[in-house]
Amino acid sequence: MKPMIPSMGGREMGPVYARYIETMPYGLDVVEVGAWLGAGTYELAAAMRDNGHTRTNGGAKDESSLHCYDWFVATKQCIGKAAGVHKYRPGIAVDGLGDSIKLTAGQDTLPLVRKYLYEFPFIQFHKGDINNLEYSGHKIGVLVVDAAKRGPSFRRLMAKLEPHLVTGATVFFMDYWFDLYKPGAGTSCQAEYVKASGKYTHLKSYKELCCEVMVYG
Ligand SMILES: C[S@@+](CC[C@H](N)C(=O)[O-])C[C@H]1O[C@@H](n2cnc3c(N)ncnc32)[C@H](O)[C@@H]1O
Repeated sequence: MKPMIPSMGGREMGPVYARYIETMPYGLDVVEVGAWLGAGTYELAAAMRDNGHTRTNGGAKDESSLHCYDWFVATKQCIGKAAGVHKYRPGIAVDGLGDSIKLTAGQDTLPLVRKYLYEFPFIQFHKGDINNLEYSGHKIGVLVVDAAKRGPSFRRLMAKLEPHLVTGATVFFMDYWFDLYKPGAGTSCQAEYVKASGKYTHLKSYKELCCEVMVYG
């Protein structure tokens, strides 16, 4: 049974991710920056499995991996946000089996995330500060950016990952503030980056999901 992972939009993005992973060429990896508790990770992984990107459950040289990056630490802000948006009681989420989990600020969430995603041995978890992210996987066919959305952090992240994108890669930019000015948070939002780069073609907006889909190259 699919676990009811607390989501800040990742679960709701499932059908959208599936649509684009369906057409991803074989032998490429998928990268998710900002996994939180793995709701979107689950959707990405299920779409990869269902579309034959992971024939042998991990390990084969030409087989795809899903790389997810996060602190994997429960912050007060994230707990409150998910509780508000998705109507969970603060700190509490209920999974598909009716069990409940308690999130405490500062908790290492990686053991819980691994448990949620145990079905997918081809996921590589990268715990730590995204500002120090290193990537050494296959070329990237699908990239989801749901963290490090402002200024230098975002540009640093793209400088690290962009060289690994294949031409035609699908990039999901997730940010409510995509083309809005956020006072006090710097003006260098994702839309400005994309426009200045000239390397992205806009495919579709899912405003209700805070998502802009772009093709790279
Ligand atoms: C908006 S949430 C991701 C939500 C998730 N994609 C979902 O749909 O449920 C952003 C995530 O980015 C992580 N994050 C933000 N800045 C980070 C950093 N500098 N290093 C590591 N993780 C970071 C947070 O820990 C948080 O889990």
